Amino acid sequence: MIDPKSFAARFPGDFTFGVATAAFQIEGATKADGRKPSIWDAFANMPGRVYHRHNGDVACDHYNRLEQDLDLIKEMGVEAYRFSIAWPRIIPDGTGPVNEAGLDFYDRLVDGCKARGIKTFATLYHWDLPLTLAGDGGWTARSTAYAYQRYAKTVVSRLGDRLDSIATFNEPWCIVWLSHLYGIHAPGERNMQAALYAMHTMNLAHGLGVEAIRAEAPKVPVGIVLNAASILPGSDSAEDQAAVERAHQFHNGAFFDPIFKGQYPKEFIGALGDRMPAIEDGDLKIINQKLDWWGLNYYMPMRVSDDASKSGDFPWTKEAPPASDVKTDIGWEIYAPGLKHVVEDLYKRYELPECYITENGACYNMGVVNGEVDDQPRLDYYIDHLGVVADLIKDGYPMRGYFAWSLMDNFEWAEGYRMRFGLVHVDYETQVRTVKKSGKWYRELAGQFPKGN
Ligand code: NOJ
Repeated sequence: MIDPKSFAARFPGDFTFGVATAAFQIEGATKADGRKPSIWDAFANMPGRVYHRHNGDVACDHYNRLEQDLDLIKEMGVEAYRFSIAWPRIIPDGTGPVNEAGLDFYDRLVDGCKARGIKTFATLYHWDLPLTLAGDGGWTARSTAYAYQRYAKTVVSRLGDRLDSIATFNEPWCIVWLSHLYGIHAPGERNMQAALYAMHTMNLAHGLGVEAIRAEAPKVPVGIVLNAASILPGSDSAEDQAAVERAHQFHNGAFFDPIFKGQYPKEFIGALGDRMPAIEDGDLKIINQKLDWWGLNYYMPMRVSDDASKSGDFPWTKEAPPASDVKTDIGWEIYAPGLKHVVEDLYKRYELPECYITENGACYNMGVVNGEVDDQPRLDYYIDHLGVVADLIKDGYPMRGYFAWSLMDNFEWAEGYRMRFGLVHVDYETQVRTVKKSGKWYRELAGQFPKGN
């Protein structure tokens, strides 16, 4: 096994190591202190949407175990904690009254991090849209962008003085395509027009959010977390290369182009523009604001080939087979070079600020045996992908930090609790946390770095 101490030498001394979670996946306490339902509470309650109809009611019970979990993060030796804030706790109906008790919880969380010398990387939206807003069209309705802006302002005016970093959104691709076109995530729609409306609302909300954050807390670095696809061709043919370009416009360009260039991709607009909502004067300027950083979530590559039939919608691609059948327990191809590829590709295409790997990790479901969790394959995954990050730094890319997904096993969305990504195992019967082999290794690696708090 690679010694974490010598491995640490591959990263600069000011590199940030952290762990990540998201509110709905760990908090539980969905009815506590004035919280109202989110679209995920409703979705989990519908038959056939989430594995075995698992829900977020208890999750890791983090809401009630906050202090103990912050101790755990401290024990993991990391410099920073990436967490998300639940909109349905703060403004339970999306618009209307602010719930002070919800803000109090995050006050305690942020103060608890500070007291332990842990930097706070907050994500304002990690998928738990207040259900009331869904009644008005959710992300397909332009009004949601303005509701989001008010929510962002509310959070940042209360917590901004103690946040080290703010992300407006986590994974637009999932918020838009996975939730409104592929129907896998809440609200489970399968409708291109709805998805295109959601895309523009979300992009606009990002821009409006940046404005609100900067007005309230001008010193806090602002960014967005994107699960940019690392898109690889199924073959060397010209057709497959062209398919990669189209797939790029659809999967990445729909967000990167407006955010970093102030426009939507050309071919994309040519093919889908007639189903897009009206883009009002000034929208693209609002969306295209200089960011302090961007976050990349990477797990696996996307392999595409040309769909010559062009029968469906743009980008007219088919899934191409993986390079090997080495997969994690969730069935995702393991391919660390994909991480290198996507970073290189995106810095070529866009003028990007500095980058944090805001999520990376692997699903393996082994349990506790004699008090230990031997998750060697997860550890191998981390070593391979961290090695790529070290190479990118050597090549001059501005990689500033890395967050392991996840601190602990949690509610894996449509997969429920059966898929585990934690460095720490959670026994959902007893809520006992057990640091896995990978977690112990990561703790030693992170522990080599000075904490800048
Ligand atoms: C991305 C998401 O941000 C996170 O919520 C999810 O659990 C992981 N990927 C693993 O699928």
